[in-house]
Amino acid sequence: MAIKIAVLVGSWFHMSALGFRYVAAAACIAFGLVVLESVAGPAEVAQIKSRQDKLRDMGGALKAINDELKKRRIDWDNTVVPNAQTIKDRSGYLLNWFPRGSGPESGVKTYALPAIWQNNDDFVTLGKLAQVEAAKLNQVALSKDANALKAQVEAMGKACKACHDGYRSPDSEKEDEN
Ligand code: HEC
Repeated sequence: MAIKIAVLVGSWFHMSALGFRYVAAAACIAFGLVVLESVAGPAEVAQIKSRQDKLRDMGGALKAINDELKKRRIDWDNTVVPNAQTIKDRSGYLLNWFPRGSGPESGVKTYALPAIWQNNDDFVTLGKLAQVEAAKLNQVALSKDANALKAQVEAMGKACKACHDGYRSPDSEKEDEN
C-alpha cells in the first residue's frame, strides 16, 4: 500500500510541473494545519471550557457556604459539608487544568493570563496553598463549628483571590458584575 502510493506520487512528479506544484501546495496546507494544531489543539480548547465550568462550581460552592453562615440555623449536612467537599475535590485537580497552550493564544475566550506559564512556579505554589486551605475547609465543615467555619471561609477566599490577583484577567470582574 505505502509503496503503491509512493509510486503514484513519484509518477505524478514526473508527469508535470503543475502536478508537482499541486503536491507542494497540499503539503504546505497540511503542514500549516499541523502548526495551527500545536498552538490550540482540541484538547486545550476543551480544557478551557471545562476548567471554567469547574471553577464556576467552586465559586458557587464557596458562596453557598458563605450564604449559609448568615442564616440563623446552619444546615451542615445539606449545604456546608457537600459544598466544602466540592471545593476540596475540585481544588485537588486545579493545577491540571492549565496546560501550556490553553491561554489567550488559543483564540478561545479565557481570562487565564500568560503569566501562568511565565511564572509557573509561583502559580503552582498558589494552587497548592489553595489546596491546603480547601482541605482545612473540609475538616472544619465536618467539625460543625460555626466560628471556625467563618474563619476558614475567609482564609479560603483569600487563597482563591491570591491567585486571581496575579493570574486571572481583571476583565472577568467587569463581566461578573453584569
Ligand atoms: C492557582 C490559581 C487559582 C486558584 C487557587 C483559584 N483560581 Fe479561580 N481562576 C483562576 C484562573 C486562571 C481563572 C480564569 C480561567 C479561564 O478563564 O480560563 C479562574 C477563574 C475562576 C472563576 C470564573 C470561571 C468562569 O469562567 O466563569 C471562578 C468562579 C473561580 N475562578 C473561582 C475560584 C474559587 C472559588 C477558588 C478557590 C476555592 C479559586 N477560583 C481558586 C485561577 C485560580
